[in-house]
Amino acid sequence: MCGIVGYIGYREAYPIVIKGLKRLEYRGYDSAGVMLYDGENLKVCKTKGKVSDLEEQASKEMTINGSIGIGHTRWATHGVPNDVNSHPHLSNSGDLAIVHNGIIENYAPLKAELIKRGYVFHSDTDTEVLVNLIEEVQKKDNLKLGKAVQVALNQVVGAYAIAVFDKKNPNEIVAARLGSPLAIGVGEGEFFIASDASPFIEYTANAIYLEDGEMANIRLHKQMKVRKIMDDSLVNPTIQELQMNLEQIEKGGYDHFMLKEIYEQPSVIKDTYRGRLHANEGLIQMAGIEDNLEKFLNAERIIIVACGTSWHAGLVAEYVFEEFARIPVEVEYASEFRYRNPIINSKDIVIAISQSGETADTMAAIKLAKESGAFVFGVCNVVGSSISRESHAGAYTHAGPEIGVASTKAFTTQITVLTMIALRLAKAKGTLSNSVFHSYLQELEIIPEKVKEALETNDRAKEIAAVFKDAPNCLYLGRGYNFPVALEGALKLKEISYIHAEGYPAAEMKHGPIALIDEHMPVVVIAPKQGHYDKIVSNIQEIKSRSGKIIAVVTKGDTQVRELADYVIEIPETSDALSPLITTIPLQLLSYHIAVMRGCNVDQPRNLAKSVTVE
Ligand code: F6R
Repeated sequence: MCGIVGYIGYREAYPIVIKGLKRLEYRGYDSAGVMLYDGENLKVCKTKGKVSDLEEQASKEMTINGSIGIGHTRWATHGVPNDVNSHPHLSNSGDLAIVHNGIIENYAPLKAELIKRGYVFHSDTDTEVLVNLIEEVQKKDNLKLGKAVQVALNQVVGAYAIAVFDKKNPNEIVAARLGSPLAIGVGEGEFFIASDASPFIEYTANAIYLEDGEMANIRLHKQMKVRKIMDDSLVNPTIQELQMNLEQIEKGGYDHFMLKEIYEQPSVIKDTYRGRLHANEGLIQMAGIEDNLEKFLNAERIIIVACGTSWHAGLVAEYVFEEFARIPVEVEYASEFRYRNPIINSKDIVIAISQSGETADTMAAIKLAKESGAFVFGVCNVVGSSISRESHAGAYTHAGPEIGVASTKAFTTQITVLTMIALRLAKAKGTLSNSVFHSYLQELEIIPEKVKEALETNDRAKEIAAVFKDAPNCLYLGRGYNFPVALEGALKLKEISYIHAEGYPAAEMKHGPIALIDEHMPVVVIAPKQGHYDKIVSNIQEIKSRSGKIIAVVTKGDTQVRELADYVIEIPETSDALSPLITTIPLQLLSYHIAVMRGCNVDQPRNLAKSVTVE
């Protein structure tokens, strides 16, 4: 949550910072700001609203150019989104400017102490406390910026990624991180600072990802120094070559990132299994699993921790792991797991699923699991992310950057990875017969083609969206493997169209939700031919006899449900276990079109952010 950008070098900083903030807007978009320094003057321009609002304001107010700048796009934590609470924040003297992503938990006593010493606060933010604390430390002991930042950070409890600039020592930006991501792009005679590498990929392919508890003194024409905040020891940072390219983070002709990402699914699922799935040889090879096979085979239990859509992928995984590999699985919301004193032991394997690899609750859950001696396996999309680094081993999903705030391709690639793991373990344990194992590998290999076919439901989804776009509520029902898909379908609809939607196991309907059904209630039922087809047909009949409006996702050629449903969406046939990879597609398209027709901001829904780095 919140995106930060910084530049120090020889180019004009403003366009770099603004373009970078636009790329980071997925991290938060309720206010934005920029600070520039032109060699003499420091000027801040900030506003409530999006980066485009900031641009408009800056066109009137930003009177200087300069080759040093920092910027911020915000997802409010302390203080409502307004101009004053926007970043950058200045210290009382006006010399220091800061941008911050995270939360300073002990800001209240620090603020009270600073007020006693005469500091005045203009905003409600924890960040303004931090910048004044740095100033106070600097003044008290006559310290340079880097040292003052270090001393101040050692007094702070919480999470942060910061970039700080000091007008009195203007050849330097100090950056630091704890719990929030921070990348430094290393160019020729220039440096970039950002929450992820997307703001600087057209300038340099070399990046340093600061580790938790590290800070960097980024100085023009000097070697960058990275050190531990706690004990001042110097660190030799690894420069990584970026894998991302510009095309991946642009819309490529689609109206929205979400639609582009929905359509990328056939190719990214292939990227996910490329080099891992060898259907002809009857092999699945994943380094993270091969290296730890014994641990998996000896595991008494797998605990999956995740949030949101990733949690839904975890629920699908529960079905696959138990069916294929016969290992007991528990799926936990990371936020609940971390606070309920769970029973974990060294025979447990904890699988943490996270697209961003930065989700604070998931991160905390894996730290807790590690403390209890469990082996932690991360399934992340963002390479080099905090969760991927904190895990003992893991597997990347290789979905490429997901920029639309509503998760789509991350979900299907997570399911792909988890299904491959379950198959690999089944092979090692002999829990599936050879022929069944082989048929799953073959089926998985052609899934991208079937996803492509499922994308042909786009026009149908659009027609149905036009009918239901004004519905105030919607129910999603599924059974077995498609129960988590019902949850995910409902989440997609509510988060981007603001229609209240609930997902349920279809059989649970009669234990309560059936009371909601009348002629105004759209009910999306996931009813592919495999699985509990007859049972779900009965559920559909129950809805029909109460006049609910039935939108059914069915296997091509289905006749029985077609007779009962008001609208059907046909998808290609696949096995029950792999069906979530297909049934999800029309639900993503349905939500997308409803949101577009309602005039909602599909890629940046209100109140949300892509990377939830606060709990
Ligand atoms: C929904 C969505 C969120 C995320 C959740 C976890 O579309 O995107 O529910 O799935 O915030 O995020 P990650 O996977 O990054 O840990």
